[in-house]
Amino acid sequence: MPGLVIVGAQWGDEGKGKVVDLLAEQADAVIRFQGGNNAGHTIVREGETFKFHLIPSGILYPGKPCVIGNGVVVDPQVLIGEIDGLRRQGIDLSGLRVSANAHVIMPYHLLLDRAGEARLGKREIGTTKRGIGPCYADKASRLGIRVQDLLDEKILRQKIAAAMEPKAPLLRDFIKDPSLDLHQMTEDYRAFGDRLAPHIADTPPIAWDALDRDRLVVFEGAQGTLLDIDHGTYPFVTSSNPVAGAACVGAGVGPKSIDEVWGISKAYCTRVGAGPFPSELHDEMGDRLREAGHEFGTTTGRARRCGWLDLVALRYAVRVNGLTGLVLTKLDVLTGIDPLPVATSYSGPEGASFEQFPYHQSVLHHVRGETVELPGWHEDITGARSLEDLPENARAYVAFIEEQLGIPVVTVGVGPGREQIIWTESASSVTRQSASA
Ligand code: IMP
Repeated sequence: MPGLVIVGAQWGDEGKGKVVDLLAEQADAVIRFQGGNNAGHTIVREGETFKFHLIPSGILYPGKPCVIGNGVVVDPQVLIGEIDGLRRQGIDLSGLRVSANAHVIMPYHLLLDRAGEARLGKREIGTTKRGIGPCYADKASRLGIRVQDLLDEKILRQKIAAAMEPKAPLLRDFIKDPSLDLHQMTEDYRAFGDRLAPHIADTPPIAWDALDRDRLVVFEGAQGTLLDIDHGTYPFVTSSNPVAGAACVGAGVGPKSIDEVWGISKAYCTRVGAGPFPSELHDEMGDRLREAGHEFGTTTGRARRCGWLDLVALRYAVRVNGLTGLVLTKLDVLTGIDPLPVATSYSGPEGASFEQFPYHQSVLHHVRGETVELPGWHEDITGARSLEDLPENARAYVAFIEEQLGIPVVTVGVGPGREQIIWTESASSVTRQSASA
């Protein structure tokens, strides 16, 4: 106690990194449980910028156990690049552990991701082209290469050959690509194995030990609920499960180890890549949110699609994840928008109205968010450190969200800085316990 899961409650990019970074200070371990280097976050500490794609945010605390769990897909080249970069910045990496059972993104996964998108043409998913989907597909086909395989040349060569064999027709266009040479690939990936060897471990016991000692363990999700391969807007989703249930599978703990589940949501909504987005704005207001919120991807640099806060989708996220608290980020971006619309239901063709997130793809593609207008505020809120510091209308906005979702808001973000956050009384179930542990 307590195991705390942090998940994206929207389409990713909600600002999970910052809250995980803050919680990590009190945690005994931080464990990433799914996704790969399709994710990305930036942390600014004392004027220095740190960018992560794979390594959990807690790494900035010297010696803190930071685990890349078995549910993550690892591009070793990217991971080694991150390790080298952090080392250059003087960061102690002694706490970094990579699950021996995590799957490895191989050069053919990158090529297949790109080729798959090209084949789809106008119907493309808009993936990050990091090889995530093909890697998870190999995992499910039992043709995956795992981190432990990087330590044994014979096994590695055999497994690469077996994985590439059925892909030959799909890889025909890349036959001359030097990255696909079996001998070279085996050598390169063995070398990556040697580099990663000090960090490779049997990782679930790290979580068990901390939980047995009643210490805080943070399970860090990537992407967001609506990108979940089962519960999101399929097929415009990622290839893993960003929902809270996956924390157990991707870290190796049982459901009873999870005490709290916090969902992260912006005070508005964004999405990258293709797919339904009922509250999307196609006008200058969308541009305004993009500019004010700096809504350009950390991983791909793509401009994010922007829209109003979508409470239909968030109510769904509360249920699918079993959220016990909401981390509301970027409230400051809404300053000066008055009145302030929020989507509370969807309208569909032929006068249909939806209070709940529609499961059917054809419906989902055609619904539009129906908004109610709340009074906005004009005061600068970036200095607020308690709910009382917020203008009345900003407080009412937070209260409206709590009432609509039926869960408390645990923190409110009012700016990009580490200190620009309001911790509400509802966060204390986690912060108080961990402080006294
Ligand atoms: P993939 O995960 O690269 O296969 O991409 C599948 C979909 O998930 C695309 O729409 C991506 O834009 C989206 N996606 C993947 N990772 C992230 C993320 O970290 N934030 C936001 N969207 C993401």
